[in-house]
Amino acid sequence: DQMRNIVQQMPKAELHIHIEGSLEPELIFALAQRNGVSLAYGSVDELRAAYAFSDLQSFLDIYYAGASVLLKEQDFYDMTMAYLARAHADHVRHAEIFFDPQTHTARGVPFETVIKGIWRACQDGPISATLIMCFLRHLSEDDAIATLEEALPFRDKIIGVGLDSSERGHPPEKFTRVFERCRQLGLHLVAHAGEEGPPAYIETALDVLNVERIDHGVRCLEDPELSARLAREQIALTVCPLSNVKLRVFGAMEEHNLVTLLDAGLVATVNSDDPAYFGGYMNANFLAVFDALPLSAAHARQLARNSFTASFLEPEAKRAFL
Ligand code: HPA
Ligand code: ZN
Repeated sequence: DQMRNIVQQMPKAELHIHIEGSLEPELIFALAQRNGVSLAYGSVDELRAAYAFSDLQSFLDIYYAGASVLLKEQDFYDMTMAYLARAHADHVRHAEIFFDPQTHTARGVPFETVIKGIWRACQDGPISATLIMCFLRHLSEDDAIATLEEALPFRDKIIGVGLDSSERGHPPEKFTRVFERCRQLGLHLVAHAGEEGPPAYIETALDVLNVERIDHGVRCLEDPELSARLAREQIALTVCPLSNVKLRVFGAMEEHNLVTLLDAGLVATVNSDDPAYFGGYMNANFLAVFDALPLSAAHARQLARNSFTASFLEPEAKRAFL
C-alpha cells in the first residue's frame, strides 16, 4: 500500500551495519571454494538452517565462523560491494559501516588487507559510505589498544570507533583508556549498549567513554531518568528491529518499543545490524516495523530525518539530504 511505498522509497542513511554481518551464505560458500577453506556445513541451505538464535552469543558464534572465509583483499571488497548494492536498492544514500578487524587479525589476516578491501569498495560503490572500526569487547583493552596502533597508518580511512560483541559482563568502562585515545585522535565515538546489557551500560558509555551515539540502546526505557536524558540531549539510538526479534531482545515485533521511543522524543533510527543473518536489509527492517506497529507517515519522515541528523556527515552534506 501507500505507506509501504513511502518507507521503501524515502532517502535514508544506515548507521548500524556490521559489514561481516552482510556476508550472505551464497558468498560464504563461494569464498570458501575460492580460498580452499572447509566449512562445518555441507550446503547453503544447511548453513542457513543454522541461523536460529536464542540470544546474542548464539548468533556471534555463527557470525565469527562465517567470517573465517575472508582471507584476501578482494574478499573484503566483494563483501562490501554486495552490501552497498543492496543498500542502494533500498534507497540508502549514506552508510556508516562497522568492521571488526580483530575477527580477522586473530586469524592471521593483516589489518591492511581488511581495511584496503573494504575501503576500496566504499570508493567504488554506488552510495556515500564511511567506516567505523569496532573493538571486540570480549577481548582485553590491551588488545583494543594494539588494534588502534595497527589502524593509525590508515587513520584517514576511519571516521570513528565503536564497541561490539558480547555485551553482558563487558561494560563500556572496560575500554576507558582506548576510547580516550581515540577521542584525542579526533575520531567519532559510538558503542553498543543496552541491547542485552542493562541501562547502566548506556550511562557509562555516555559518561565514561563519551560516545556520541548509542548502538541499540532499546533497554533505556527501563530507566525513566535515563530515557528523559537521552531525549533532552538528543542522543541518537541506532535501533535494529529484525535483529532485536531474532536475538530475543523482544518476543515479537509487535512488542518492539520503537514507537514509544519516538513518541518520547528520542532520536531513534532504523538499521539492519547483520542483514544476512537476521532476515533483511534496510527496507525489510522498515517494512517489518511498519507492518507490526502503529507507525504513521509522520513517524516515517522522522525516522528518515533522524538517520541523517544522527550521521557523522559534515553539516553541508547533511543539509543536502534534509
Ligand atoms: N551486538 C553486538 N555485537 C555484534 C552485533 C550486535 O548486534 N552484531 C555484530 N556484532
Ligand atoms: Zn550491532
